[in-house]
Amino acid sequence: MKKDFITIKDLTKKEIEDIFKLTGQLKKHKAKFNRVLTGKTLALIFQKPSNRTRVSFEVGMCQLGGNSIYLAPHEIDLGVRESIRDAAMTLSRYVDAIALRTFKHDDILEMAKYSAVPVINGLSDIEHPCQAMADVYTIKEKFGKLKGITLAYVGDGNNVCSSLLRACAKCDLRLNVAAPKGYEPDNSILKETSANLFYNSSEAVKGADVIYTDVWASMGQEKEAEIRKKAFKDFQVNRELVKSAKKDCLIMHCLPAHRDEEITADVIDGANSIVFDQAENRLHVQKAILIKLLER
Ligand code: CP
Ligand code: NVA
Repeated sequence: MKKDFITIKDLTKKEIEDIFKLTGQLKKHKAKFNRVLTGKTLALIFQKPSNRTRVSFEVGMCQLGGNSIYLAPHEIDLGVRESIRDAAMTLSRYVDAIALRTFKHDDILEMAKYSAVPVINGLSDIEHPCQAMADVYTIKEKFGKLKGITLAYVGDGNNVCSSLLRACAKCDLRLNVAAPKGYEPDNSILKETSANLFYNSSEAVKGADVIYTDVWASMGQEKEAEIRKKAFKDFQVNRELVKSAKKDCLIMHCLPAHRDEEITADVIDGANSIVFDQAENRLHVQKAILIKLLER
């Protein structure tokens, strides 16, 4: 039966560990894997812009000997030009996997329901699972372990935060989340985990080994940007906040970043920022995910 990659919730701890193990091998022995997906094609249906997700998937397929087809918002015009069901059933006759970046998480579930090939969530309003996998892998790579490490996520309880919550819970990584009232993570997702919720960012980062943030207004929320800037003003990751964390605390951001909004330029461009290692690991982790889904 085909397997999808839609939410971290569907993964077991063992499956995550296996993906991380393969990721390490792919990073170390790139050439050894350059034919494993020969003849396979990945369709990338994106309803929102992307740098990292699109490019890392396209380059990943290429490095594994396969191909990809990028379908911009108005090419398939999902749900407008044709139903998600018809698009899924048609694409299943051509390609070996579909990565979908969309507004509604339900659209990804609908695509998976009618697709005969694996569907990968390339970001929805609820989750960004490929991002969280790369994030946790990066932390493991930096510290050589996950147990005993504390991550503090400061900012919007959005898609990135939800996937992180689930990934940290599966990997025994301690997570503190700091968000303003009204912008907390989804309560049902929070409840699945043992993460701590704070309404004060300096309390959340106390003792943290890593501080993570994301934009205050996600794609599709542009009209709320001004209201959100006010709501999040005490949740900026800046030098003062970093002082409350552990000495030499690492800094993460899924990118794209808005310098001097959710994070100051000196912090994201500082010596302890690992944002580009994190971005690079999107490529390696997603190659491992593609192999797990397609190699059979
Ligand atoms: N972090 C991330 O998914 O980046 P893109 O939106 O550029 O793909
Ligand atoms: N939360 C952001 C993440 C971008 C990678 C968004 O959804 O726009």
